[in-house]
Amino acid sequence: MFENINSLPADPILGLNSVFNQDRHPDKINLTVGVYQDSNGATPIFSAVKKAERSLLSEQESKAYLHQSGSAKFVKHIPSLLLGDDLVQQLDARLETVMTPGGSGALHLGAKLVSMSSRSARIWVSDPTWGNHYPLLQSSGLHVETYSYYDAELKGVNFARMMESLSQIPEGDAVLLHGCCHNPTGADLTKPQCDELIELMSKRNLLPFIDIAYQGFGKGLEEDAYLTRLAARTLPEVIIASSCSKSFGVYRERVGAISIITENEKQTAAAQTHVFSAARCSYSMPPYHGGGTIGRLLDDENLKLEWQTELEKIRCEMIETRSELSKGLNAAQNKVDFSFLNNSSGMFCYLGISREQVLKLRSEYGIYLLENGRINVAGISKKNLPVMIDRMSRVIGLT
Ligand SMILES: Cc1ncc(COP(=O)(O)O)c(C=O)c1O
Repeated sequence: MFENINSLPADPILGLNSVFNQDRHPDKINLTVGVYQDSNGATPIFSAVKKAERSLLSEQESKAYLHQSGSAKFVKHIPSLLLGDDLVQQLDARLETVMTPGGSGALHLGAKLVSMSSRSARIWVSDPTWGNHYPLLQSSGLHVETYSYYDAELKGVNFARMMESLSQIPEGDAVLLHGCCHNPTGADLTKPQCDELIELMSKRNLLPFIDIAYQGFGKGLEEDAYLTRLAARTLPEVIIASSCSKSFGVYRERVGAISIITENEKQTAAAQTHVFSAARCSYSMPPYHGGGTIGRLLDDENLKLEWQTELEKIRCEMIETRSELSKGLNAAQNKVDFSFLNNSSGMFCYLGISREQVLKLRSEYGIYLLENGRINVAGISKKNLPVMIDRMSRVIGLT
């Protein structure tokens, strides 16, 4: 059966990570994969997560199959985190949340739901977007198109062009929006821009499919949910794919959620049956451990507070790293003003360098970033920052 099978090319991000692991360069730096690292280059477990995990393990009495919607505590608390208590109460049975294996699982199920519900089965993603959006959405049966977003000249969002682009797309189509901390650019919309965007989506009857994978990494837990809450409060239908991987540091446990909002209780209940059916056709029901742990954490006010404090520390650290990188690069040369780095939000930003320069950083100095110039800011530590500044300055010919 398999005599004619050919290997597929490696995943652009995961493949690069493997090459990095084999690189023998003494000062090598990995800025590729979106995983938080502290100043020692470690990805520690949040202490609040560890405590919730211990309590779950000591009290767990069964390994019987879980309900398809996942841990009861998880699906009770995640909507409040995303939308706030008042809005959750207001939406009532118009909103349903289902636990998924990671944000990727949520994106997959959401895409399946759109694909079977929409006449066009088309979704529009920002240019650029997270590389894995394409295969994830396409393999769920959606046709993927792009709308204008980032402007390399402006080193930020070209909002006028984005709105122009969105006003051209056919009514009724789905639009993928990054809830916060846009991946890969780190360039987010301002609040007034979010307001204008949602107004346009309402006028043109566009379905927002919000991917929120970095809540708490940008401006704070509440602020990062601005777009998501605005859409949920204002529009009749919204799909939210959320990930707990980064915000709770539970990457390998695979925890996320899909939240569906429709015009009424009946439609939401029907949509949920399709989400369950799509899950049944692949993994049946979500794994318990990660979601069960987060459900416990969010159910305990003290643990929740401890987690929020830990998350806030990480957020502030990333802001500081960005600022140090920008200051360091500006001090090392005076040809390019790197202050723009401070405008990006979350784990990622674009360095604004060419593909050739990216490849040179990799081959000559063992510094790995994506070919589009995206770096994971958390990959820079106090220790490797001077190396990073020196090598960057050399490669872009500024010293
Ligand atoms: C924008 C975006 N959405 C979704 C995900 C999926 O996250 P998960 O690891 O929870 O599947 C990621 C992960 O990198 C991401 O960057």
